[in-house]
Order: sequence, then C-alpha cells, then structure tokens
Amino acid sequence: MEETKCIASIKHGLRGEVRIPGDKSISHRSVMFSALGSTPVHISNFLHAQDCMSTVACIRALGAKVDFLGEDELIVTGNGLYGLSEPQTILDAGNSGTTLRLMMGILAGQPFLSTFTGDTSLHTRPMKRVIKPLREMGAQIYGREKNTKLPIAIVPIGKKLHGMAYNSPVASAQVKSAILLAGLFADAPTTVIEPHASRDHTEQMLRAFGVPIETNRTAVTVRPMKTLVAPRSIEVPGDISSAAYWLVAGSIIPKSNLILKGVGINPTRTGILDILHAMGARITIQNERTSGGEKAADIHVETSMLKGTEFGSEIMPRLIDEIPILAVAALFAEGDTIITGAGELRFKETDRIQAIADQFNKFASGAIEDTENGLVIHGGKRMQRATCFSYDDHRIAMSLAVLGAAGRGVEIERPDCVNISYPTFYDTLLQVKQK
Ligand code: S3P
Repeated sequence: MEETKCIASIKHGLRGEVRIPGDKSISHRSVMFSALGSTPVHISNFLHAQDCMSTVACIRALGAKVDFLGEDELIVTGNGLYGLSEPQTILDAGNSGTTLRLMMGILAGQPFLSTFTGDTSLHTRPMKRVIKPLREMGAQIYGREKNTKLPIAIVPIGKKLHGMAYNSPVASAQVKSAILLAGLFADAPTTVIEPHASRDHTEQMLRAFGVPIETNRTAVTVRPMKTLVAPRSIEVPGDISSAAYWLVAGSIIPKSNLILKGVGINPTRTGILDILHAMGARITIQNERTSGGEKAADIHVETSMLKGTEFGSEIMPRLIDEIPILAVAALFAEGDTIITGAGELRFKETDRIQAIADQFNKFASGAIEDTENGLVIHGGKRMQRATCFSYDDHRIAMSLAVLGAAGRGVEIERPDCVNISYPTFYDTLLQVKQK
C-alpha cells in the first residue's frame, strides 16, 4: 500500500497508443449473466480490477464455476437460471454498488437466504432505491436503518415474485437492472420506466442470452424466463469511463497526441464525447466496429484550447461517472462551466460534488463552486501544486492525477483506490508521458 503518490507536471505531452481496459459495467454483467446460463461462456478483455473481482467472488459463492485462463480472460459456467445455490458465507460486494444492487435483483426471488456486506463506503450508500421496488415485487429484504443500508439480508418467500410496472424516481442503470433481473424470476412481465434513459448494457446482454426485451422510450420490459441461452463468448469492449482520463489529459496537456484503442461507444455512455466536442476538443472516432454486441472504436485525441460549457440532467446518465474528470477539463478551459442536475454524484463512492469542490480548489482557490445539485467551474485560473485526498474514490484519484499532470503537480493521499477500476492507470501515465 502506497500512502501517497506524487505526480509531476507534464511538460512535453502525452503520446502513443493506450489499450483501454475492459468496461466495468459490462464485465460485471458478463459474469453474472453467464452464471445464470448452463453452458460455458468464454469472456475476454474482462476488467481484472477489485470491483469486478467482488462480483466473481459472489458468483463463485453461489455455485457457478469461474476459471481464469489469464489476467483478463475467463470461462464462467452456470447451472441454469434456477441453478444458483445457497451461499455458505456472507456475500461481500466490497466497494461495488453494481455488484450489490444487481446481485440483489438476481437473489430477490431465490428459494434460499443470502446476506450481503461491503466496505465502509458501500455501507453509507443508499439501497432503498433497490430494496423498495424489490419489496413491491414481493421480496423479503431487510437492511440497517429501516431497510435502506448494508448489511442486507434477503429471505426466501416460498413463491414467485410479482411482475410489475415501476416508475423509477432516479435514472439509474443499477436500479433498472436489479428490477429487470428480478423480473426474470417473476410471475408476469416487469417494466421499469426511468426519468431519463440510463446505460442499457443489461438490456443488450440479456438479448444476447436469448431474453426478449421490449423498449419504448425510457420504458423497458422483461418477461419471466425458464432458461437463458448463453452465448459461447463475450468480448468486453474498453471502458469509456477509463478512456475519459486520457480524453481529457490529451486535450489539456500541451503537445499531446494519443490513440485510445478499443473503446466502447455505446450511445448511452458517450455523453463525455458530446461535452468535450462542445468544449472544442480535437477528438475523432476511428475504426468503428462491434465488440461483444456493443459498439467500439479507436479514439484519437490531440491537445486543443477548450472553452467552458453548460449541461444538466438530461445528459447526466450518459456521463455520470465522468463528472470529476470533466471538472478537470473545465478548470483548464476558457470561461465558466455550469453543471446542473448532478445530485446523484452525492451518492457515489464518496460525495463527489463535495470532493471535487474541496480538493480541486486547492489548485486554484475559488475556481470551483459547490451548488446544491452541481458545480460552477471558473476556468483558466493559475494553478499551483497541491496535496490532495482521494477519499478512497478511484475516479477522484485519477482526476487528481490528470489535474496535477496538466498543472504544477500533485501529491495524492491514498492513491491505491485506482485498483477499483483501473489498476494500470499510474503505469500507463508514465508510459505515455514524453520525457
Ligand atoms: C453502473 C451504473 C451507474 C454508474 C456505475 C455503474 C452500472 O450507477 O455510476 O459506476 O454498471 O450499472 P447508477 O446506476 O447508480 O447511476
């Protein structure tokens, strides 16, 4: 464990090719859904990082077979849709909201007891958004603080869940996915309606497992299934949320020229490209293809002069994880950037609005204002070197590293949390940095 990490100012640009590690959302789903099939699924470009390994541990504890062939290549063999078995231990979701919330959906209708724990951060995060609809379907779920927080227990109900139509108050793929997965085990179709469309990896991958999914604007319907028909293989595309650090670093560090290889460009995830383009970034999409049923491409980024912009709730689900790094872009842009409708950031691995305001202002005092549900960022201020805290939040740590590299350097306290989603991040920064 490193206590601090020093990132020096980068003067001569970032250059070369970066192979982007597998998408975190798709990696989780590839293992979970394969465990519900009955034939082996070969998964490649899997994200071998802490969050996805929490999913692997849960899936193993439920009786599915997971064999790693290499760092990012594995075979998962399930025992059928109704073939999970009672875990002998408490399931540990670690830092991963996706593991916990999606697994709750899978386990809500099972004929056995399951219990969940997680790390300190996950214990503070809101689970009512999933527990409430699952209880409405008939599940018996109990948690701390009036059934809203970890630890959580799911008790067997001795009958099927009820299918239902649910109007979700939040645009959240984790909530939507949990309900749809529970719907596979229900007695009638289940529909989730969102205020704005969230990422659709669950829908895409369930289709690849032979599940008919109907969509109508922001409504998604699944029907009860007897079996899933697993594909032979899933190739996970690179994670645009990880590519995001290089998209911004390549834009704001002078003399940069990077090619990001094999990035997933599912339209429900590409809000960052729209915003960076609106800010004047020089980013082009090349070699479009499909990877594991999802759109992927190489992305070329070169240094450019960015200008401030404004965006809000409508685009938010398409870039929710990229706000910290977009705030870095905004600091280096000319003029102000106004972000609204970002209240969900308060419920991530840490309160990211507060973390951004508290830590980023150390580089340029007064540059960032914390508004109720967003941020105002005054770009173009003179930067100074700073010592900052990561809050053990991977996306805050990586954003601080880019901020320091583009500015006058940074010392990051508790930097190892990048292992949650991007274990090779600091090494890659050193590799592409021009001496
Ligand atoms: C995810 C959905 C998003 C995102 C998270 C991964 C997923 O969370 O922030 O990193 O894989 O479904 P919400 O659904 O809570 O917005």
